[in-house]
Formats: sequence, structure tokens, C-alpha cells
Amino acid sequence: MESLIVKGGRTLFGELDVAASKNALLPILACSVVVDGEVTLKHCTMYSDVMCMVEILGDLGCKTICTDDEIYIDASCADEFLVPEEYTKRIRSSIFMLGPLLSRFKKATVAYPGGCNIGNRPIDLHLKGLRTLNVKIEEKHGYIICDGKNMKAGEVHLDFASVGATENIMMASLLLKGITTIYNAAREPEIEDLQNFINAAGGKVSGAGTSTIIIEGVKCLHSVTYEAIRDRIIAGTYMLACAIAGGEITLDKSIPEHNFALISKLKQAGCKISTKGRLIKISSKGKLKCLPRIETQPFPGFPTDLQNQILVLQTVSKGTSVINETLFETRFKICTELTKMGADISINNQTAVVKGVNKLYGANVITTDLRGGAGLVLAGLVAEGHTTVEDVYHIDRGYNHIENDLRILNADIERVIQEDYSTEHI
Ligand code: UD1
Repeated sequence: MESLIVKGGRTLFGELDVAASKNALLPILACSVVVDGEVTLKHCTMYSDVMCMVEILGDLGCKTICTDDEIYIDASCADEFLVPEEYTKRIRSSIFMLGPLLSRFKKATVAYPGGCNIGNRPIDLHLKGLRTLNVKIEEKHGYIICDGKNMKAGEVHLDFASVGATENIMMASLLLKGITTIYNAAREPEIEDLQNFINAAGGKVSGAGTSTIIIEGVKCLHSVTYEAIRDRIIAGTYMLACAIAGGEITLDKSIPEHNFALISKLKQAGCKISTKGRLIKISSKGKLKCLPRIETQPFPGFPTDLQNQILVLQTVSKGTSVINETLFETRFKICTELTKMGADISINNQTAVVKGVNKLYGANVITTDLRGGAGLVLAGLVAEGHTTVEDVYHIDRGYNHIENDLRILNADIERVIQEDYSTEHI
């Protein structure tokens, strides 16, 4: 059982290159199954979710090699179209395999991904979109069984701009004769990155980044070397770390436009932020003005994946903030733990009212999800004394050794392995 121990009170300073985007790498890896040749992904970051996706590809028969920062996939020998529950339980993004497997084999069987710690996360929009492309879908014994032998290009109108559904439908239609159009598509930067990967491999996709995506079917995708974009949520997390702890840091390699919603909020709170090319420089005096209203929205609105971290900032800001989580219904679990640290938060359904307090106090806290875990680490940076954040494996899903990054930025944080006493006490 690994934990992070954070000693609060240090201001942050220093420079850091932002790592590759997990949410860009996952669909790109899934899409590699469609490539008739070799895929080399440069400057990757080996988050545990990414490693799980690589395992899935291996299980489907692909040859995979991971070095320190490169992933190589040869899907020519893939011969399996089933993704079992052992993977869908570990990463929900395994649902991204539906589209690529349909493109490659005209069939796909994927175990149903359950609910998760941030909400129910249905996949009805993925399935409705695939049905519009004439995929026959049966849901039985916990599996989604797709038969795509009569698949046809078509027009898909998403009832909600879901990121995963947009990506799945894009990947399912890559090799269909004719033109597929996705209306009300999600506009997240990772979707544009998937489009760029596909086009670099010879696909014909346009419009990603807008709400209408056009996929013109091609005969095949060919070998490709690609570098995914850097992670806007990691960049945002460290900007918020600096806002909370105070100090001045510079982040390199990420694209500032991807974080405009956050930058605007942080300026409003009193941070100084400048951007140039791929550089973001932020400075904070520590005790900031509260942000009266924050509401999560699909891109380019304020990202749900930074909601917990900005909530932590509000716990120590001057005034009262109302945070409305519109995307995931149980994404305030962090609040129970923050209350142990002295935060003043009340929750009513999907709204949190956060009254800024003078101080947080170090405590033993447990994370139940990825971004909540990052939020607790940020709380530890400003709390008096030591904070121990347990169950770090949640954080490792999307931050590659968060403690190393934060140490580069002057934080006092270390990872420790702790004995699990839970059974001894029964
Ligand atoms: C992706 C991101 C995740 C981020 C989220 C929203 C990846 C690997 N994950 O998740 O980090 O928090 O976008 O920016 O890229 N919905 C349905 N039916 C569906 C699909 C979604 O009702 O079939 C709902 C969801 O419950 C949620 C909303 O749509 O309320 C947004 O979900 P979606 O955009 O699909 O998120 P993910 O792709 O799961």
C-alpha cells in the first residue's frame, strides 16, 4: 500500500516539462489496432492506465514494446476481438476498443464497464451512435457484443457531446466506404489529437475541435510515428498547486489555449499568469480571492477533471464559492477528506458551497479516485503539518510519480510503502 506524505508550508518555484496527455494516448493506443503496419508513439508517459491499454493490445495479439518514453505497436498479428472484464474493471477507457475492433474485424466484444467512483458513466451514446452506423448490438452476460458486418457510413447526432462516444464513433467509421458525419461532437483537444494521429496514418478526418466531425472512409491506415499532445489536466493541476501554495513556476510544452478556462479563473482569483508559445508562467501570493461561481462544462468550459483541485483552492481562499459539477454525479467525494483537514464545505446534490478557512491542518486522508487524489495532495501542500494521502494507485492512473514533479517545484513530498493492517484488526 503506497502513500504520499506531504509536509505543508513551502512555496513552489521552478520549471517543469508537462508530460504526455493520458486522455490523448488512450484512444490513440486503441486506434493502433486499425493500423495496417507499425505505430511508434514518441515522448509517451507510462501512466498505469496507459500500461493497461498496452496490455489490452498485447492480449488482442498485437506486438507491443515499451521503452522509457516510447511505445511501439505492431497490430498486424492481432487476432482477437474480445476485451474481457479483467481490463474493463481496471480502466473504463477499454470501452474505446469497440470502435477500432469494429474497424479492424467488423466485430467486437467488450465486457461492460461498471459504474465508477465519480459517477454512473453510462455508454448509451456510444452504442446509439454505433447502431446508427448499422452495427447490430447485443448486451448479454455482461458483454457488449457488436456485429458490424453490415456497417455503413452515416450521420450520427449525439444527444450530448460525449468525449468517449465521439472518439469511438470516429474510430468505428475510419474504413467505411463513404462519409460519416458526427454532429454535436465533443470538442476536447484530445479529439483533435486523435484526428491528427489518424490523418498521419493516412486517414481522412476533419472538423475535430469543432462540433461537426467528418470522416471520409479510406481503405487502410499505414505505419505512423506520432507524438501526442501534453496533458492539460496535469498542467492545470500544477498551476493550481502554485496558486494554493504560493510561489512562481513555469510549465513548458503544454498548449496554453487548452487551459484558457482555468487561466481566466486563476487571474480572477489574483494570480499573475503569462503565456508565450508553449510556456505558462504563473505566480501567486498564496491567499487568493474566492471564485464566487465555478461550473464544470465540456471543453472549452471549465474541465470537470480540474474541479476537485480548484475546490481545494477555494477551501483556503477569502470568501465563499459555489461549485456546480454538471458532468459526474459523485465527484465531491474528496470533501469528506478535506473536512478532516479543517475545510468548511457543504454539499447539496451536485453543488458544493465552500467557505474559505484560514488554515487547513495535515491529516491522514484516503483518495478514492484519480483527480480527487491530486486535490488531496494539493491540500497537503498548504496544510499545517504532515498530510498522508493513502491509496496512491488512483493518482498513478494519470500522474507519473506526482511526487517527483512536485519535488522539482520545491514541494516537500515523498512516497512511502505502508503495511496494510486492515485484516489484522478484524
Ligand atoms: C472523458 C475523459 C475524462 C473526462 C470526461 C469529461 C478520457 C479517457 N476520459 O471521459 O477524464 O472527465 O471526458 O471531460 O478521455 N454520458 C452519457 N452516455 C454516454 C457517454 C457519456 O450519458 O454514452 C455522459 C456521462 O455520464 C457524463 C457526460 O456524458 O455525464 C460526459 O461524459 P464523456 O464526455 O463521455 O466522458 P468520458 O469520455 O467518459
